[in-house]
Amino acid sequence: ALPRDLEGLRVVVSAGGTREPLDPVRYLGNRSSGKQGYALARVAAQRGAEVTLVAAHTVALPDPAGARLVPVSTAEELRAAMHRAAERADVVVMAAAVADFRPDQLAAHKIKKRDGEPDPTITLARNPDILAELVAGRRAGQTIVGFAAETGDERGGVLDHARTKFKRKGSDLLVVNAVGQGRAFEVEDNAGWLLSANGDERPVPLGSKAQLAAAMWDAVVRFRRS
Ligand code: PMT
Repeated sequence: ALPRDLEGLRVVVSAGGTREPLDPVRYLGNRSSGKQGYALARVAAQRGAEVTLVAAHTVALPDPAGARLVPVSTAEELRAAMHRAAERADVVVMAAAVADFRPDQLAAHKIKKRDGEPDPTITLARNPDILAELVAGRRAGQTIVGFAAETGDERGGVLDHARTKFKRKGSDLLVVNAVGQGRAFEVEDNAGWLLSANGDERPVPLGSKAQLAAAMWDAVVRFRRS
């Protein structure tokens, strides 16, 4: 049986990948399936938490039992939903892959090919960093977890890069995913490292996304007790 060590905690988890519209039929997106975020929500509910799952364009996944689902599309919608849910949350987890940029203009009509005219250029505008905003607005006693998807391996400097990102982001915990080699985006398995602001650093061996979720919630419980 799973421990009921999250009982009494309100948690909010973001999952999936945002879509940034270009015209009424096209968007910029990413490969996040939402599987990792759903696993985090499911495990949290099983361990007794009251869970809100803010989900952006996930593949068809069964609703995690016991979680309240808030569907969103763009980074701006995900931002609003996260700020709303964070007002009452004890733990906030940003597992969604949020687009760093959006097309700076949304065409009212489908962009067309026109003979004799130059091909269109897409200009991008920066999206807000939602994790940084949540950290800046953190309530007393609230624990904030970020995710980082990095390419390469430990020898390739992934951990050093992630440690720098962790300091800059200011979250309490950072889950570092090593992307590629059948890990992280889209697939069933994940692996990486858990970095904690109290100095605790641990590798997460390759395993299911539910296993990584369990390791992350263990780290949250340890951090809140430290
Ligand atoms: O969905 P799956 O297919 O299961 O894959 C899971 C995953 C690989 C998408 C997931 O485990 C993961 O790593 N999510 C974060 C990926 C990511 O966008 O990393 P990043 O390094 O770009 O962002 C770092 C952190 O800042 C993340 O917590 C992200 O949610 C947050 N962020 C990023 C940009 C932005 N504008 N606002 C944010 O809040």
